[in-house]
Amino acid sequence: GKDGYRHYMEKELHEHPLVIGQTLQRMVDPASRRVILPDLPFNLAEVPRAVITACGSAFFAGMIGRYWLEEIARLPVDIDVASEMRYRNPPLTEGSVGLLISQSGETADTLAALRSLRQKAIHIVSVLNVEHSTMARESDVVLGTVAGPEISVASTKAFTAQLTVLACFAIATARARGKLDVLAEEHLVSALLDLPSRAAEVFNQTDAIRAMAQVVVEARDVLYLGRGSMFPVAMEGALKLKEISYIHAEAYAAGEMKHGPISLIDRTVPIVATAPSNALFEKTLSNLQEAKARGGRLLVFTDTKGAERVSAIAEQMVVLPHVHDFVAPILQTIPVQMLAYEVAVMKGTDVDQPRNLAKSVTVE
Ligand code: F6R
Repeated sequence: GKDGYRHYMEKELHEHPLVIGQTLQRMVDPASRRVILPDLPFNLAEVPRAVITACGSAFFAGMIGRYWLEEIARLPVDIDVASEMRYRNPPLTEGSVGLLISQSGETADTLAALRSLRQKAIHIVSVLNVEHSTMARESDVVLGTVAGPEISVASTKAFTAQLTVLACFAIATARARGKLDVLAEEHLVSALLDLPSRAAEVFNQTDAIRAMAQVVVEARDVLYLGRGSMFPVAMEGALKLKEISYIHAEAYAAGEMKHGPISLIDRTVPIVATAPSNALFEKTLSNLQEAKARGGRLLVFTDTKGAERVSAIAEQMVVLPHVHDFVAPILQTIPVQMLAYEVAVMKGTDVDQPRNLAKSVTVE
């Protein structure tokens, strides 16, 4: 049941800390602070490229995975949504690793993309929540997300579990490629192991998130902004809002604003931004300044280190614990999903069963 929560989605949001912890238990050795992968039928050190594909939220998880693989493992990555990847006929390099990401393991497009990658001699590593699914049977390796059953149609905890697995996979790949020494690995794994406690602290911000929701619920259109690994977090926020509250939302890489979307800005289009104090913080702030100067109302997710700068420009903010840049997208996703949930509750939509949607999309 819902354990006293109003909806399965609310219950599953509250499972984020648990699910991140359970997934880490499978993927890291806490004593040595090293990532442990199952045996792979290929050598990670010799993989020339990665190709990532998925649908919906799982695709946004893949986008964050790309940042990690590029950043720490220096591995070139191709990425596309599965419905495009399966018909794109990209010139892939044999022996590359294919990362297929799916909660259900039954999504028709992702499964078809898996089969087409296999035909091109790509090693199939699937990141799956349902470990007895069709995709699981057709993969070379399954990396399980230990999220438990996800009932709410809108994905929440499975997403952070996917990110946790992808972060660990990026660390293992970086090590295999000689890009990460023992100390650096310990440092990143420590940041991951710290996450369940930090994630639990996000729920102290529920009132601040509800205050943001009061603004969003009045809007017809909402812009979500982020840069770098926060751009897919913005995309996830916009998708979740559309999905369950039926409010139109669009995510933009904050630096793209002045190439078009800035003309949308006025008091009626709130701007939700994800801006923790990372390497792109100042860049993001200056994009937000530009939006504010044009009458934009800023609702900003930041962290304790960024709070002072953000408070100078934001109408409302949510302040999260400061964590290592590498794991920040995992933490920042939680309040962004919570915002969509609170807006939907205020609108009175059918949160767990949004119109026109099914939990698993088994037709093309
Ligand atoms: C978003 C959502 C969908 C799924 C997508 C992929 O909240 O639930 O976008 O993420 O349909 O589904 P799976 O992960 O089962 O392949």
